[in-house]
Amino acid sequence: MNNFKYYAPTEVIFGRDVENEVGSELIKSEATKVLVHYGGQSAIKSGLLERVKKSIEETDIEYVMLGGVVPNPRLSKVREGIEICKEEEVDFVLAVGGGSVLDSAKAIAYGAVYSGDIWDFYDGKEQITSALPHGNIITLAATGSETSSSSVITNEETGDKVGVNTEYGRPEFTLMNPELTYTLPPYQTACGIVDIIMHTFERYFSPGGVNDMTDEIAEAVIRNTKRYGTIAMENPDDYDARSELLWSGSLSHINLTGLGRVGDWASHRLEHELSGMFDVAHGAGLSAIWGAWARYTYEEAPERFIRMGENAWGLDLKELDKKEAVETMINTVVEYFKTLGMPESTTELLGRSLTEEEILKLADNASKAGNKTLGSFKVINREDMINIFRMSV
Ligand code: NZQ
Ligand code: ZN
Repeated sequence: MNNFKYYAPTEVIFGRDVENEVGSELIKSEATKVLVHYGGQSAIKSGLLERVKKSIEETDIEYVMLGGVVPNPRLSKVREGIEICKEEEVDFVLAVGGGSVLDSAKAIAYGAVYSGDIWDFYDGKEQITSALPHGNIITLAATGSETSSSSVITNEETGDKVGVNTEYGRPEFTLMNPELTYTLPPYQTACGIVDIIMHTFERYFSPGGVNDMTDEIAEAVIRNTKRYGTIAMENPDDYDARSELLWSGSLSHINLTGLGRVGDWASHRLEHELSGMFDVAHGAGLSAIWGAWARYTYEEAPERFIRMGENAWGLDLKELDKKEAVETMINTVVEYFKTLGMPESTTELLGRSLTEEEILKLADNASKAGNKTLGSFKVINREDMINIFRMSV
């Protein structure tokens, strides 16, 4: 087990009706003026936004609203939010929605206390050293942004989709009501299930010696997500299934499944290039790329795939040789994603094959023109990225 530090300061308030506690949570956070940030229609249609407003109106706290966050949240919306926060002297940012809304809210929180341009943080020119406090009501089990330190923003002018990790990204609180996820379209539920599994895989398929506690937590997250994912797809209003998924989403990205390991994250970085270029859903992009990544890299440590297959996917691989065992495990995962309606290739993701020109551009972007490698399980360079994208079609 490698040395590690663990810090997860977000207060988690979980269960039915918890969104109605938002007013009292804001009082605890000493908010006086809040930016309520949300997405397109879902939080309006479900009545969630009205309940949030009501809860805040029962306090002395003022608020301003900013909606319109789209999936793969845009830099322009973040800039709009920062301007509002500065003009209105907002001192707390409240996100109501999925991971895109939460990520946009985090970026606004960083930019509201910064005099330069917010993109400086995302293109690595500057480090984040302060932020407005922020919290959220999460409506989609997927990204784990509700407790994570990350925020991923798309610069729509350049097509760059970039994540930033900082302790200032940790929300003060998250209100997690599984019932709020009942209204998700099946496609978004499925994308979320893939993302939860992938956040766990990214940490599991990584170098390191014995790390059984962490590995077993990871295997439990996968077993649980797979089992309850199937149930939630069949019965969207199953409270238990939605609860298990929502909590697994947080657990998968709060780093409990990666303590003492150095995560890989290559599949995520390659996917961010796909969703930056083609504006596809993150979970679907991961589903399209993971099989190719796994087949390209497994020889680094086939035993990790075999252990994952046996402990989390219920496979009996003892009679098979290593190559067959790994192939069986990878096929099982890809088949599971397919049962959710997720793509098994970039061709299925996009409805056409990637062109050679696009593959080169994706690899150039991901490798910063050949100057950057990705991954830790297998360190991959630009050539490897090209090979993985070619294998993904
Ligand atoms: O805009 P509305 O109308 O709310 O619709 C959204 C959106 O169209 C809808 N939705 C959300 N909650 C709903 C709902 N529809 C009905 N009922 C509900 N309860 O779902 C659609 C997708 O929402 P989005 O927020 O984009 O999805 P997700 O939560 O999967 O977030 C994806 C974004 O997060 C980033 C991804 O790259 C992507 O940009 N990630 C963020 C991470 C983090 N901050 O830690 C880690 C992840 O690896 C990921 O990269
Ligand atoms: Zn993800």
